[in-house]
Amino acid sequence: MSIIILGIESSCDDTAAAVLKDGKILSNLVASQAVHKLYGGIVPEVASRAHQENIVPVVDLALKKAGVKKEELSAIAFTKGPGLIGSLIVGTSFSKALALGLGIPLVEVHHMQAHVLAHFAEEPKPSFPFLCLTVSGGHTQIVLVKSHFEMEVIGQTLDDAAGEAFDKSGKMMGLDYPAGPVIDKLAKEGRPRFDFPEPKIKGLDFSFSGLKTAILYFLRDQVKQNPGFVKDHLADICASIQERIVSILMNKLKKAARETGIQEIAIAGGVSANSGLRHALEEAGKQNGWNTYIPKLEFCTDNAAMIAVTGYYKFLKKDFAGQDVSPVARMGF
Ligand code: KG4
Ligand code: ZN
Repeated sequence: MSIIILGIESSCDDTAAAVLKDGKILSNLVASQAVHKLYGGIVPEVASRAHQENIVPVVDLALKKAGVKKEELSAIAFTKGPGLIGSLIVGTSFSKALALGLGIPLVEVHHMQAHVLAHFAEEPKPSFPFLCLTVSGGHTQIVLVKSHFEMEVIGQTLDDAAGEAFDKSGKMMGLDYPAGPVIDKLAKEGRPRFDFPEPKIKGLDFSFSGLKTAILYFLRDQVKQNPGFVKDHLADICASIQERIVSILMNKLKKAARETGIQEIAIAGGVSANSGLRHALEEAGKQNGWNTYIPKLEFCTDNAAMIAVTGYYKFLKKDFAGQDVSPVARMGF
């Protein structure tokens, strides 16, 4: 009999649902919440209300697109954490109720583990052990992936996440939230001619707060001399910021590959959608003889396919959650 998993993701500002049949994605939908643009960042209370409005139609459409009736589902996989608690509660409560109503198992999923396992939603799949640079709006980690569920974080940010470095720099320039994709687009038209410092952090850890301050002071000083500086040089500023963020990430990833001797190298998370990072990984792969794994764009930013895939592997192990499960905002591996 086929194993059909419904995945539900609601950890931040995207309400997502996906259907997976025997390890293959049949549908993968996301309702993004444009409302946060008005505030220049995510407002948690607004996010949970939007999840409440979106979750039923998104799940309904994901099932319809997949051509699957809810009675055919084998299990429901949902994001337990980490994330915004109000957002997580919506997805968790919905999943619990639907699983109870249908009399099928519930599978809890760790959001960051799911970003890594997004690589198993498509071919070619990385082989174990592999390194995954997981870069999102809340996390920046180098993960040593020994098996589907044995993951060790061998490097992480000491302060801001890579996505935050993009978003906060964008805010300083008056760009819309989230600024990562906007900077990526503008950077394509510019040259990286402004030099921002690369922090000297020991080991495999990262830091982005120094870069943030350097950008702030640079913009302040330039705007003093020319109030139109940001507008006049926007593409070049974006190219410079992106180049530095990518070099910080890639230098640590190369170090991790050298130190572990691992040549299977993946990227994941929202920032892995960045064209500069994707290109840099390809180039480093060619130079170092790595096998590189770059997810399709729909599997980079928050999505439910990765939740369904992770749920599938847990389902095979019969690793089910009880009806007493609660979401967890801060959740280690
Ligand atoms: O994984 P994700 O969708 O949500 C979290 O779990 O945080 O990541 C969102 C982050 C945001 O900071 C956003 O600006 C960034 O990913 N992002 C990008 C790009 N697309 C999304 N950053 C740089 N370039 C992009 N193309
Ligand atoms: Zn995420």
